[in-house]
Amino acid sequence: MLSSVNESRGRAAAPIGIGEALEDHARTFEERFGSGSRPRVFFAPGRVNLMGAHLDYNGGPVLPTAIDRGTFVAARAIAAPVLRCASTHERDSFELELGSLPDVRLGAWVDYPLGIVAALFRTRPELASAGVELLFGGNLAVGAGLSSSASICVATACTLDAVWELGLEPMERVDLALVAEREFVGVQCGIMDPYAVGLARPGHLLWLDCKDRRIEHVPFDTEACRLAVVDSGVRRELAAGEFNRRVAECAAAFSALRAHQPEATCLRDIELATFDAHRDELPAQVARRAEHVLKEVARTFDARRALQVGDIERFAAHMLVSHASLRDLYEVSCPQLDTLVELASDVPGCLGGRLTGAGFGGCCVFLVRPGAEADLHAALGEGFRPRFGYAPRIEFYSGDEGPRELGA
Ligand code: GLA
Repeated sequence: MLSSVNESRGRAAAPIGIGEALEDHARTFEERFGSGSRPRVFFAPGRVNLMGAHLDYNGGPVLPTAIDRGTFVAARAIAAPVLRCASTHERDSFELELGSLPDVRLGAWVDYPLGIVAALFRTRPELASAGVELLFGGNLAVGAGLSSSASICVATACTLDAVWELGLEPMERVDLALVAEREFVGVQCGIMDPYAVGLARPGHLLWLDCKDRRIEHVPFDTEACRLAVVDSGVRRELAAGEFNRRVAECAAAFSALRAHQPEATCLRDIELATFDAHRDELPAQVARRAEHVLKEVARTFDARRALQVGDIERFAAHMLVSHASLRDLYEVSCPQLDTLVELASDVPGCLGGRLTGAGFGGCCVFLVRPGAEADLHAALGEGFRPRFGYAPRIEFYSGDEGPRELGA
């Protein structure tokens, strides 16, 4: 697998806060597209997943929350029937005729917004006459496991909803993001990311049962426990292929195990006893993937119970076991992420943590008692740099209220 350590890419590409984005992003828009009517500016958050790793596409439960970092989109309606897309992060910009958009991906960053437009046009072909200029940017590390792709998709849906006056429900934007990423971009992602980006609430984790799509907002006190997100700086170019392979391995596990539990509708339904009795029928690697999934389902249910009774230590302990399982059974970790978890585990005020997102690089998330932030910084800085030659980026995130137009 190709991998690269790229600290600058791991850093927030545009280090502006949500509060400054309205002016800053609108000004950059005018520099790129020229002055004229003032652009409107929109925001959609990223997300961090605390429990339920790689469960969404197996019908299991997940516990993410939206974070106060994400995607900014400045937008202006124009008379010509064209879609102009530029980005503060990327060199390439695109101008496409709305009446003849490509129906396959271009292999460029614009595939995410293009996927949203394509999904919208399926049911509303009349929109092809209404042009728009879009400038994308944001303060979320790209490709770091914080759902930058769902963030850009939901932000695009939110923006076009407002500019084209579509009157979409939050759930419709979530569905558009899913269609864009799965069918246009071609990643077989689960439902967690757009749900978290589109539906999470501050001060809560989003409990999403991916089997029946039932959601619940579980209170999570970010005053009592801070969310540290630490970027390993590792980005793997082939992560999408590896991700799709895990999806296929889980599908293979389910199709073999279902023979022994015919009422099961997804891997999550398989009981551990069934798995234990028949694991030898599976290729060893497929069995490891299934073991992770089934035990992570049990851990995630117990993590929710722990939160409900205010037992944050138990919740955090599950995160540590989850990391070990992602490392040993699911095999989506890397030495940098493992080192971060080991180092953080030695900090008394750090209750626990694990890699977040798909893995293969990206970030770890840790639960940290207020007052222990400096100790975490010191421990990670001192322990990581001698081994890998650079310092990991550590940030503390708050929850977010979700996709919206930034005030005038
Ligand atoms: C990626 C996917 C999600 C989910 C996570 C792993 O972020 O986009 O749907 O599968 O990996 O939990």
